[in-house]
Amino acid sequence: MSERKPYGSNFGKQTWWNGKLIPTEDATIHVTAHSLHYGLGAFEGIRAYKLQDGSVGIYRCYDHMTRFNQSLHIAGLPIRYSVEELVTACRDTARASGMGACYLRPIAFLDAGPLGVAFNAETHPFTVAIVAADWGKYLGHTAAEQGAKIKISSFSRHHPNVAMTKAKLTGNYINSVFAKVEAKKLGFDEALLLDTEGFVAEGSGENIFVVKRGKVITPSVETVLEGITRDTVVNILSDMGVPLTERRMTRDELYVADEIFFCGTAAEITPISEIDNRKIGVGKPGSISTDIQKRYFDIVSDNNKKYSHWITRL
Ligand SMILES: Cc1ncc(COP(=O)(O)O)c(C=O)c1O
Repeated sequence: MSERKPYGSNFGKQTWWNGKLIPTEDATIHVTAHSLHYGLGAFEGIRAYKLQDGSVGIYRCYDHMTRFNQSLHIAGLPIRYSVEELVTACRDTARASGMGACYLRPIAFLDAGPLGVAFNAETHPFTVAIVAADWGKYLGHTAAEQGAKIKISSFSRHHPNVAMTKAKLTGNYINSVFAKVEAKKLGFDEALLLDTEGFVAEGSGENIFVVKRGKVITPSVETVLEGITRDTVVNILSDMGVPLTERRMTRDELYVADEIFFCGTAAEITPISEIDNRKIGVGKPGSISTDIQKRYFDIVSDNNKKYSHWITRL
């Protein structure tokens, strides 16, 4: 099986596969896997950070694995492991990767079996796996430091009755891939998607926050993924005493905002300097975004003891 070496990225040497660690080259799926054909699988993206004392800790692992099992529940897929077992599995995978700080990708999918669209959740082979990867700044160092240039996508975010947005399901991400590839081909760092009614929803893999006259606004969660980083930002804003409103926003409201930033496990806190070639504020990361970014990195590296309970040490 060693000719099946994964292409492109640096992955952990071992992958957690249905309860056991196996060589990552052997963590492959069958051509008849139902999820490969129809996109019904659940996944998570989690980061493990180097902490201030030199050890490594997984950030909000319990919350990610809770959402993972909720995604399976929403999709009608089997829940084979408790949150506690999944957290232990993430820890084992991160440790076995030998990478120190890393990105963890838990995924659950319907494996080899009949090719029909309908599946039997009780009998269909089902795999839960966790792979570790090396993942730097998702939108690049320049975007993280000087702000990302983004484009309102020609693709709309899912209508909640087309794809269920509370679940992080593999097939939902076709929409993100289309939007992201379109934005990158046009020279932008990331896409921002509007909902089917034309209001601001989220990035292809991030939630969005907008600052106007010292107050912060974010779209409510109806049509977007309820991000765990979004929740961290809500806590940070409360610590800062900055008022937050959840409401609908139009694209032109963004053009005249003082500051805007994306947040997500992969993107962390990434300020936005331009949308559709229009400068946001002065076209550089503003003071509120920069403060939130600093506070975020303090929390994930255990420099803010108020949030130590969010960190699972390896
Ligand atoms: C579409 C989408 N929105 C928002 C987020 C942010 O979620 P989180 O902060 O839990 O990573 C992600 C990333 O998982 C995402 O894919």
